[in-house]
Amino acid sequence: MGKDLRHRHMTEMTPVTYTAPTKAVPALPDAQTVTEVKHYTDRLFSFKMTRPASMRFRSGEFVMIGLMGDPHPETGKVKPLLRAYSIASPSWDEELEFYSIKVQDGPLTSKLQHIKVGDEVTMRPKPVGTLVHDALLPGKRIWFFATGTGFAPFASLLREPQTYEDYDEIIITHTCREVGELTYGRDLIEGLKPNELLNEVIGDGFWKKIKYYPTTTREQSPKMGRITDLMKSGEAFKDLGVPPLNPDNDRAMICGNMAFNLELKEMFENYGLVEGANSNPQHYVVEKAFLD
Ligand code: A2P
Repeated sequence: MGKDLRHRHMTEMTPVTYTAPTKAVPALPDAQTVTEVKHYTDRLFSFKMTRPASMRFRSGEFVMIGLMGDPHPETGKVKPLLRAYSIASPSWDEELEFYSIKVQDGPLTSKLQHIKVGDEVTMRPKPVGTLVHDALLPGKRIWFFATGTGFAPFASLLREPQTYEDYDEIIITHTCREVGELTYGRDLIEGLKPNELLNEVIGDGFWKKIKYYPTTTREQSPKMGRITDLMKSGEAFKDLGVPPLNPDNDRAMICGNMAFNLELKEMFENYGLVEGANSNPQHYVVEKAFLD
């Protein structure tokens, strides 16, 4: 299905035969060309870049991307400064999308936040990761739990046909400090409804399976609080109209800061859920969101 979608997408975009996107031949090894940059807040931005024609990945995986560092003062050698970034675009897409934090004194993101269309970004095209459907047993409902830029792998999985083939219900929770940090995720989910291609390929109204539960912790919004606290009090389950997670029906993927990941892991173990991996599919999987 994913392959079919990618093929159709390309056919739509390129009327005759598919040829690699026109771009200047990159001067550096593993370089890709930036095609779009969007800034959301002073802490968050997203960007797109070209995808090597030979690169395959599973929705939810990450790659190492970065920039070439400054030349060594004596040897003149340049080394790339790379970090793990979840691919935010789905596996069938022609381009690669990423969602990033900006840390003013961060080794990579202090520079990466200034990239412009046409610039080159280095990428090691070896996608890996545990936030993939293969690492979970079949279930009825899938939960995606994110904080901050941890939304990125779910931006991929929310546009992945298999997500809707495998589950009756998809619940995505996103906890951020401020309201503006929810924009990327909210826009992405809103954008699924009018997306004709996805409605045609996945099924008309596929997006009705999604329940979106955004919360903020440091700025007023309709739902305040950490998702962990809202689950412990039962409020989140009441709001969503579903029972607490159980190993028979529920599957979950976690991507956030370290404290968040650990707290949710402990909660899941108490619900009786077992952590899975590519080689051992179980009830839930975890990955650390990138923080420079
Ligand atoms: P809080 O503002 O209460 O710390 P950050 O930007 O620092 O990575 O945080 C992103 C979001 O994750 C914030 O809303 C933060 O809430 C929340 N958060 C941090 N630690 C946890 C945790 N252990 N459980 C749930 N949410 C957390």
